[in-house]
Amino acid sequence: MKASPTSEDLGAMRKRFVPQGPFNVTPYFVDRAKGALVYDVDGRELVDFAGGIGVMNVGHSHPKVVAAIKEQAEKYTHTCFHIVMYEPYMRLAERLCALIPGHFEKMAMFANSGAEAVENAVKVARHYTKRPAVIAFENGFHGRTLLTMTLTSKIKPYKLGFGPFAPEVYRMPYAYCYRCPLGLKHPGCDVACASYLNDFFITHVAAESTAALIVEPITGEGGFITPPREYFPKLIEICRQHGIVFIADEIQTGMGRTGKMFAIEHWGVEPDLVTTAKSLAAGLPLSAVVGRKEMMDAPQVGGLGGTYGGNPLCCQAALAVLDVFEEEKLLEKSERIGRKLRDRFEVWQGEFEMIGDVRGMGAMMGLELVRDREKKVPASDEAKTLVRLCYEKGLIVLSCGNFSNVIRTLMPLVITDEQLERGLSIMEESLAELYK
Ligand SMILES: Cc1ncc(COP(=O)(O)O)c(C=O)c1O
Repeated sequence: MKASPTSEDLGAMRKRFVPQGPFNVTPYFVDRAKGALVYDVDGRELVDFAGGIGVMNVGHSHPKVVAAIKEQAEKYTHTCFHIVMYEPYMRLAERLCALIPGHFEKMAMFANSGAEAVENAVKVARHYTKRPAVIAFENGFHGRTLLTMTLTSKIKPYKLGFGPFAPEVYRMPYAYCYRCPLGLKHPGCDVACASYLNDFFITHVAAESTAALIVEPITGEGGFITPPREYFPKLIEICRQHGIVFIADEIQTGMGRTGKMFAIEHWGVEPDLVTTAKSLAAGLPLSAVVGRKEMMDAPQVGGLGGTYGGNPLCCQAALAVLDVFEEEKLLEKSERIGRKLRDRFEVWQGEFEMIGDVRGMGAMMGLELVRDREKKVPASDEAKTLVRLCYEKGLIVLSCGNFSNVIRTLMPLVITDEQLERGLSIMEESLAELYK
C-alpha cells in the first residue's frame, strides 16, 4: 500500500500546481482538527490561535455543527434560494435580525464570502441613498474583489499591480491611538479623528454624495486597532446628520470574538447595516448582510443574490453555531479568555521591550511589536520570525497590521485552559528566543 503523502510531498505539489498568490502561513497540511487543536499529515499536534483566520470560534468539527451538516446533506444540498426556497434560510435570517444590534425592523440576505457581503452592503447603501461615494478607513481590510480591494488600504500585497480600482472610494484616517494619524493624544484629543469627518466632507467628498461609511469596529487585518469609547458614537452621529449609511464590517470582529456577539455593541451604537461571515458557519462559506428593513428592501427584485448564497448546508451550520454559543456560553468564555490574554500580555510588556502596545477586546487581542519603544519602529521581520518559531514549536498564530508587526489571537473560544496555557507558553518561549 502506498504511504500517505507527507506535508513535504504535498508542498511539492502545491509549488508545482498552485500559484504563489494564495499565501500560506505554515508549510503544513492538515489531516484532522478538533476544538482548538489541528493535527497535520506528519502527526504534529498544533494548538490553534488562528482558527482559519477567525472562522472557528465554536472550534473545529464541533459535533453539533457536523451533525447539522450531515442531516441537511441527506435531505438536499442545493436548490438555489432563488429557485426553490427553504426553511434554514428563513430561520437564520430571523435569528440574525434579532441578534444584530438596533431597535428597528431588520432584514437579512446571505452570500458566500466576506467580500461578497461587503459588496452587497455597498450595493444596498447606494441603491437606498441614490448616492455613489463610500468612505473607508486607513488600516481597513474588506476583501479581495475589485470593490473590496479598493476599500482595503494596505497596498502590498493586496493592491499592488491590480489597478485600476473601483471609483468613488475615499479614505479617512482611523482611530489608531498608538500611532495617532493626527499626532494627538487620547483623551485630550477629544477624538478629533472622528470629528475630522466633517472636514473630510470639505476636502475629499461631499456628504450629499456619500452613500455609506464602512468601518471595522476593531481592525482585523489592519492590526487589531481598538478605537476609544467615544469614537463610534461621534462618527455615527455625523453620518446620521447627513443621511449616510453606517456599515459595521463585523466579518472578523463578529460572532463572539470580542466578548459580545458583535463588537460594535461595546460602543453602544446601532449600525444601519452589518456584514458578518467567517465564524458565522464554522468554516462553511457563508456571509450575511443584516440591517434596516427599508434599506435592505430598497434594491429591486433580482438586484441582489447569487447561485450559492445562503446554501442550506451553510445555513444549518450557522444555526448550529448560534445554538452552541447559547449552550456553551461562548460570549462569557470569550471574555474570560480575553482577561487571561490581557493579563499575560501586560506581564510580557514589562519583560519584553519589543512589545509596544497591547490592545483588543475579549479574545481578540493584539501585541504590536516595535524595535524601539520611543520611535515605534515596526518590528516586522521579528513578527514574521515569531510566527515561524511558534509553529515550529506547535502553535499556529498570525500576524497582521499595515507593517505586519502585530501578533493577533483568533483561537477557537472552546479552547481548554490547558491548550490556552500551552499556546501562551510557546509564545512566551518564542519571544524570549527572539531576544537571544
Ligand atoms: C473585516 C473583514 N472584512 C472582509 C473580509 C473578507 O472576507 P473574505 O476573505 O471571506 O472575502 C475579511 C477577511 O479577512 C475581514 O477581516
